Amino acid sequence: MAFMHFTTAVVTGAASGIGKALATRLHEAGTRLVLADIDADGLTGFGAGTAVRTDVSDAAAMEALAAAAPDADLVCLNAGIVGKDLGAPWEVAPEDWDRVFAVNLGGVVNGLRAFVPRLLATGRPGHILITASLAGLATFPAGGAYAASKHAVVAVAEQAALTLADTPIGVTLLCPALVRSAMSPEGEDPLDIADTALAAARAGEFAVVPKEWGGEIVRRGRRLASGAQPAMPAPDM
Ligand SMILES: NC(=O)c1ccc[n+]([C@@H]2O[C@H](COP(=O)([O-])OP(=O)(O)OC[C@H]3O[C@@H](n4cnc5c(N)ncnc54)[C@H](O)[C@@H]3O)[C@@H](O)[C@H]2O)c1
Repeated sequence: MAFMHFTTAVVTGAASGIGKALATRLHEAGTRLVLADIDADGLTGFGAGTAVRTDVSDAAAMEALAAAAPDADLVCLNAGIVGKDLGAPWEVAPEDWDRVFAVNLGGVVNGLRAFVPRLLATGRPGHILITASLAGLATFPAGGAYAASKHAVVAVAEQAALTLADTPIGVTLLCPALVRSAMSPEGEDPLDIADTALAAARAGEFAVVPKEWGGEIVRRGRRLASGAQPAMPAPDM
């Protein structure tokens, strides 16, 4: 696949962390930005870009966002929340399950529903960058609703990639481990994550997984296929 240059990008969750880093790198590359976040005050500092206050869990709001970005050739469905409780499934309150799924999975599905038909209608190459998490590929005991929602995001991204395989629309799935942001005080620099994610999107690659976690994902697959009990995920040394 040819290396893609993006002319107009939509980024959800652009007021902070990974979304802000994606917007920063795209702005530096000369891409026009349409930025979305529930925190509209955080969507500043990107020159002539458009800011749209958007709750990604609201399908109508995502439709309005797509209508505001008819020229988009990159759509970054990135907004997400951890939820209030990262305990065992039965310890997480029903409202927390609902909100985490509404934002993390619903935000991606609403985004695909709003943007994919528009991208296909242009007949031009386009790309969708979906932020899941390592927590969508490896299961930790204290994952709360977050882990299940990110596994669902991985499945939806694979469904999208398979369905769009013979179209000019590509899909990239970002699965970082810890990243320094409002969500985590420790981890990688979000700008480095943005660089890696955008390089993969431009090259038409699918999953972006931290190198040291690749072996664990294979081991998990082997455990699942063999009937072995789940084991605590661990990175390669
Ligand atoms: N930080 C990490 O360690 C880490 C690791 C793996 C994956 N991720 C994922 O990366 C994505 C970005 O997270 P981050 O680390 O930059 O966190 P962050 O909290 O710094 O940024 C998330 C942004 O999403 C916005 N947001 C929250 N709910 C929203 C909604 N309903 N509609 C629109 N915007 C909303 C927030 O206002 C915030 O600006 C998330 O999907 C997260 O799950 C984060």
